[in-house]
Amino acid sequence: MSTPSLLILPGDGIGPEVMAEVVRIIDWFGEKRGLKFDVTTALVGGAAYDKHGVPLSDETMAKAQEVDAVLLGAVGGPKYDVLDFSVKPERGLLRLRKEMDLFANLRPAQCFDALADFSSLKKDVVAGLDIMIVRELTSGIYFGEPRGIITEGNERVGINTQRYTESEIRRAAIAAFELAMKRNKKLCSMEKANVMESGILWRDVVTEVSADYPEVELSHMYADNGAMQLVRAPKQFDVIVTDNLFGDVLSDCAAMLTGSLGMLPSASLGAPMANGRPKAMYEPVHGSAPDIAGQGKANPIACILSFAMALRYSFDEGAEATRLEQSIENVLADGVRTADLLADEGVTPVSTSGMGDAILAALD
Ligand code: NAI
Ligand code: MG
Repeated sequence: MSTPSLLILPGDGIGPEVMAEVVRIIDWFGEKRGLKFDVTTALVGGAAYDKHGVPLSDETMAKAQEVDAVLLGAVGGPKYDVLDFSVKPERGLLRLRKEMDLFANLRPAQCFDALADFSSLKKDVVAGLDIMIVRELTSGIYFGEPRGIITEGNERVGINTQRYTESEIRRAAIAAFELAMKRNKKLCSMEKANVMESGILWRDVVTEVSADYPEVELSHMYADNGAMQLVRAPKQFDVIVTDNLFGDVLSDCAAMLTGSLGMLPSASLGAPMANGRPKAMYEPVHGSAPDIAGQGKANPIACILSFAMALRYSFDEGAEATRLEQSIENVLADGVRTADLLADEGVTPVSTSGMGDAILAALD
């Protein structure tokens, strides 16, 4: 097989700062584990606008379509707030998601023991938590027609439509079953089949797809109960698959079980390419954090964990992904903290590159 390819898009604000630490880690895997990547770096967001007048050049878009995985930092910042909507930094990100047709958004909620105190829940409820929410990203109520605000009689009516085709549900379900196969072979599908026809279809199609994955234990749950269960006993889940709207809310809820924005990775997957790998973009959940940009304070772990997800879900290097995650766990257990992870005053925070140093040392 040819050398796997990566497109790195650092972006704006803290994006380039956290991505610099990821690049050191990628280099480590090349030197110490013989895991070489063919890396291309390009501009996105405000940085691309400054140079090319657009938040994503056609050339970079074409590159994103051809590589095995895209790794993105963050885009945006106050400097760009005055720009016309059509060239705002976020449009670069939206173009990538749309043209790559990334229909499955993967949001893990993983609790590192050393940070369990950060959770708003009891330590034993979240310690060791490791679940994954797969959210359908390109259809559902955010896109369905008709939509708009109309006037009926003497009042306004706001309209959005939940609409799912079988094929849209099927491809999201397949992505979730494939993930479950790479994890613990347990999948819970959430909808509201009790009150929504789109939920009935969702349940039907997910059940149909399950015939191709007899090893995966499938369950169904109403999404409101799912919300309760996520807060009551999150460790009962492994992979959860749900629609765009429920997934938006449930994934934010699950993510916060585990603490800081600086720790949260994500992935967005599309259809399989000719080599069998899904189109994929990996990125931290956080934004460009203009309030701390340029100060070396940013926590690089969310971006590093996004690379770990790339290792596991794009490159079938699950053992190497675990190696990286374990190193992060060890560093945190040793008490190394960036400023965002500090609960008490007595500890001196490390810088962005200080955290990178510690993770590299732990990898060694
Ligand atoms: P943000 O995620 O950039 O920051 C929210 C808060 O969390 C800030 O106080 C920030 O300092 C802190 N924070 C975020 N990441 C951190 C890290 N790695 N380490 C330590 N602290 C961290 O969200 P905000 O402030 O709403 O947006 C700032 C800019 O980022 C805006 O221009 C927004 O449009 C853009 N944005 C971009 C996203 C992306 O590229 N995917 C996602 C969200 C926002
Ligand atoms: Mg949200």
